[in-house]
Parts: sequence; structure tokens; C-alpha cells
Amino acid sequence: MEMLKQMILSRGTVKSGGVLRVDSFLNHQIDINLYQEIGKEFYRLFGSENVTKIVTIEASGIGIACITAQFFNVPVVFAKKSKTSNVADDNYVGHIYSFTHQCNNDILIHKSYINENDRVLLIDDFLAKGSALEGLIDIVTTAKAHLVGAGTVIEKGFQGGGDKLRQAGIRVESLAIIDAMDEDGTISFRN
Ligand code: G4P
Repeated sequence: MEMLKQMILSRGTVKSGGVLRVDSFLNHQIDINLYQEIGKEFYRLFGSENVTKIVTIEASGIGIACITAQFFNVPVVFAKKSKTSNVADDNYVGHIYSFTHQCNNDILIHKSYINENDRVLLIDDFLAKGSALEGLIDIVTTAKAHLVGAGTVIEKGFQGGGDKLRQAGIRVESLAIIDAMDEDGTISFRN
């Protein structure tokens, strides 16, 4: 998606440890025109899939999922990050490991919000090692819902998560895939 790539190049900054900061337009201050175009693009990619629910994870995924859902006219469900090991019986639970924060998290979705009749599209802002998506996929699988695929805004291709999921047969569409980046500001996209 050209508009996104241009914004990454002009307003993104590369930090140490392979972290791309995009706070000024994607996940702190939000450029609403960009979000609109992101939603439109996900609809172009997945609009024929009869999606019944968009599923994401708090916090940064929620805004993108909501604008995207307006094009699909379906509800958004977001997984909550649990901070304790006390988990109620009526939640589906996924386990994720954050490589960025180096900690484990349980994520929860109440069982009443996803079921075997759903056709689920996963949406998130970043795809790095893929742990967040894997946790969401576990929940979709446990709920016996149909996974249509995953749409992510920025994939860090050099961290391998997207390709691992694609090799596992999951349709993953990322609007910008970064294959290499350097603290001097050089960023190379896959296509
Ligand atoms: P993974 O899910 O793909 O394995 O990635 P990881 O655990 O490393 O991601 C942890 C968090 O960091 C996620 O947000 C993810 O969106 C974000 N993240 C990963 N790489 C980058 C990056 O290069 N730049 C930025 N800005 N964020 C990145 P989170 O901690 O769950 O926080 P949030 O969704 O509440 O913002």
C-alpha cells in the first residue's frame, strides 16, 4: 500500500533492537485518513470472504479493526490481555510471548463472542514473530470458528512470523512488509 509505505519512510524512525516507531501516525497519534485507506484495502483483500467477525488484540489493534469493520459491517471482538493467572471458565484463552517486552501474557475472549458459525478475520497493527496472531489463532481454533485469514498493517519480514504462518497455510496479508531496516533510517520493503 503506497500511502502507508511513504508514511513509514517519511515519518517512521528506526530504533535499536529492530523496532520501528510509527507513533506519529499509526499507534499513538492516529492519522485517520490513513486508517480509512487501511480499512478500504483490507476490504478489497478480504471483502469476498463473507467475514462475520473481526478479531484483534488490545490495545493498538482496536482502532484499526474498528475502522476496517465499518467496511465489512461486522462486529469487532478484541482479546483482552490478562495480567493474572486467574482465568474465568467462560473465556477462551490464548498464550502469547512478547519478544518486544520479553514476557508471557494470557489473552482472553469471552466464549459468547465467537462460535463455530463465525468466519473470522484477524487484524493487527504489527506482525513481528507472530506470537500475537498465534494466540488469536488458538482461540479461533478452540472456538471451532473458520479462520479466513489475517490482515496486518506492518510486517517486519526479517523477524519471520508472517512467513511461518503462511507456510502453515494461513492467508496473511500485510500492507507493508519490511525486509530490512537500519538505525541510519534505511528501510527496504519486500515489494
Ligand atoms: P509478535 O506478536 O508478532 O510476536 O510481536 P511482539 O510480541 O514482539 O509484539 C509485542 C508488541 O510490540 C505488540 O504490541 C506489537 O504490536 C508491538 N511491536 C512489535 N514490533 C514493533 C515495532 O517494530 N514497532 C512498534 N511500534 N511496535 C512493535 P503490544 O505490546 O501488544 O502493545 P499494544 O498493542 O498495546 O500497543
